[in-house]
Amino acid sequence: MSEVVRLERHGDIAAIVVDNPPVNALGQAVRQGLSERLAEAVGDDAIHAILILGADRTFIAGADIREFGKPPQPPSLPDVIVEMDASPKPIIAALHGTALGGGFEVALGCHYRVALADAKVGLPEVKLGILPGAGGTQRTPRLIGAAKALQMILSGDFVAADKALELGLIDQVSGAKTPMEAGLAFARQVVDGAYPLRRVRDLEDEILSDRGKTEVFDEARAKLQKTARGLFSPHKIVDAIQAAIELPFDDGITRERELFRECLDSPQRAGLIHAFFVERQVGKVPGLKGAARRPLMSAGVVGGGTMGAGIAVSMLLSGLTVMMIERDEESLARGLATVDKILDASVKRGKLTEDSKAAVMAESFAGSVEYGALSDVEIVVEAVFEDMEVKKAVFAELDAVLKPGAILATNTSYLDVNALAAGTSRPEDVIGLHFFSPAHVMKLLEIVVGDQTAPEVVATGFALAKRLGKIGVRAGVCDGFIGNRILATYRKQIDYMVEDGASPYEVDEAIRAFGFPMGPFQVSDLAGVDIGWMTRRRLDATRDPRERYVEVADRLYEAGRMGQKSGAGWYLYSDGDRRGAKDPVVENIVIEERRKKGIEAKALSPEQIQRRYLAAMINEAAKVLEEGIALRPLDIDVTLLYGYGFPRWRGGPMKYADMVGLDQILADIRGYAEEDAFAWQPAKLLVDLVERGENFESLNQSA
Ligand code: CAA
Ligand code: NAI
Repeated sequence: MSEVVRLERHGDIAAIVVDNPPVNALGQAVRQGLSERLAEAVGDDAIHAILILGADRTFIAGADIREFGKPPQPPSLPDVIVEMDASPKPIIAALHGTALGGGFEVALGCHYRVALADAKVGLPEVKLGILPGAGGTQRTPRLIGAAKALQMILSGDFVAADKALELGLIDQVSGAKTPMEAGLAFARQVVDGAYPLRRVRDLEDEILSDRGKTEVFDEARAKLQKTARGLFSPHKIVDAIQAAIELPFDDGITRERELFRECLDSPQRAGLIHAFFVERQVGKVPGLKGAARRPLMSAGVVGGGTMGAGIAVSMLLSGLTVMMIERDEESLARGLATVDKILDASVKRGKLTEDSKAAVMAESFAGSVEYGALSDVEIVVEAVFEDMEVKKAVFAELDAVLKPGAILATNTSYLDVNALAAGTSRPEDVIGLHFFSPAHVMKLLEIVVGDQTAPEVVATGFALAKRLGKIGVRAGVCDGFIGNRILATYRKQIDYMVEDGASPYEVDEAIRAFGFPMGPFQVSDLAGVDIGWMTRRRLDATRDPRERYVEVADRLYEAGRMGQKSGAGWYLYSDGDRRGAKDPVVENIVIEERRKKGIEAKALSPEQIQRRYLAAMINEAAKVLEEGIALRPLDIDVTLLYGYGFPRWRGGPMKYADMVGLDQILADIRGYAEEDAFAWQPAKLLVDLVERGENFESLNQSA
């Protein structure tokens, strides 16, 4: 029988080895195993010291996240750590890989911590909407003081072994090759009397100077007002660390436990843990298992504008060589200069050294106005104007010069990837790679699969996403793919809501209050009011006569209010103020447009605005699923989380819909349909799910 926790005897030292792949998470069997092996070692007179370590690639990477939200199974981790604390024999943690969350709390419950040089420790619970609930908020300040503990636990950042030693979180960095070797050597010294038995719970030196003072906590709370808007657990973390300073240890632990429970019960925990798992599932695409990947060493980018330059930078920073093609020498010089400028900014931000930037520019990057320069590359991403004829001409050139097996990708936002593929002699090599602006920053990459795209080309698209540090999402072909298609629908609703009676500023405020970083009108001002205008003109020819159309944004465009770049859009930007001020001129335009249509303004509450916005998003998302444009609800969640600012702590629109209840969402849609039946045709999938009493989660699956 394979045991998840085993005890190995090395003379008078007992090594308790946690062996629960892939990351030695602290599931029920591990907690029980730890408790039992510990009792065995403590009760054995021949044992003088106890070592805790992880098998295979890591120490313990934390609680088993899959258990959260389910009924707790004893023993709890805090109880196991109490048993460790009570041990009369020294316990040493030997860390390698990552010691995270509950895993690091186990280490803190030991008397000593030794780590291999490449180990990392951390308390990342905040990223999952919880707090370290097994003594982490109480023991960490006892080792490093309140201010550093706040920094570490509120950021959730990993701390490298050398830094952890400097801070005092661990006791030794070992040059040994294995944690067993490092741990046994340290334990030997402990047994030989080099280190007295020391429990972290009894340490006071680091917190004495914090006691009775509230400044550090006041400061942390003030900062959270700005950095953790809408979030729950960071505030509880500050409360817990303050309790560590002000209360006796056992009372502090009780307080930590209460605060942990509050976090565990919050919907934010469910949303954030959903986000954790879906971003790991999204790359496991049904039907792709076993598809080979083509090698990628060198790439081409056609078009050196906003997107082309950003894509080139992203590729260069991942170690690919890049050839940029532009339509003439002047445009090429501009494209090359943009890349140079973005790389300079990376140097300034410390992401790149001056030398490596110089090396990249000299050795990995070049430009040309001749397509022949692409004859050796393995992949080309086209980012020229959003115009089918221009793109078709580019694809014909690429088809003529690229070597067999090279991938032809388009960064189009809306155009038909199948039509582009049909114009080449190799439609199986054509794919959409839809980057988001700024392309060197944004994490999302929609991988748009055409009717004839070969599975290995799709698999290579996912491999490229990973190499660029991005999250690839599989999408099918339609106008706008997953993200922009859904955006187009909920974006219309905000125009309707303004015409119905809300001010643009109320809409923005309500959407921000939901958790989006910016309101849709702020986004419009940032992107340019002219971009929305062009999109609407593109759709003029195909717009259904039954569709409601709001002219307000057109009036802004006609008045030259292009957004931030022209100093005025939905907001007024005077003296370079990028936040923008409300503008009565815009409010008057809105009033005038309502008057022309005889619309009597009705006030909309923030909740009404949010519900309508979300209902439109979810309904269109259900249609995208139903049509197979997205294969799984989780693909939509990841798209909205990484490309459109959907608040992570709400898990994504599909998770949010499940949490609200699909019956309620459908009831809202049917209510809105009474006013505008054309815009609010419920997705068949949504109706079916409600009838069957199922949710979106039931449709998630991975390969
Ligand atoms: N519980 C359950 N499963 C976990 C897990 C955990 N804590 N951590 C990782 N996994 C799973 C992943 O889902 C993944 O599963 P699949 O292969 O089925 O997709 C697998 O382990 C490997 O994970 P990664 O793909 O992420 O591997 P990686 O090498 O890139 O990263 C890692 C490893 C750094 C440990 C990363 O997985 C990670 O950050 N995990 C979460 C760590 C964490 O947040 N721990 C705190 C938990 S909360 C806690 O401990 C509360 C408490 O106080 C008691
Ligand atoms: P842009 O106008 O900034 O850049 C286009 C570049 O293509 C220009 O530098 C132009 O000189 C060059 N070009 C035009 N015709 C060419 C040809 N025949 N051969 C070589 N180069 C040519 O446009 P932007 O914003 O970079 O958009 C490019 C593509 O990316 C479009 O398809 C757009 O829909 C898509 N996209 C844009 C996003 C954005 O936010 N701007 C986001 C995601 C996709």
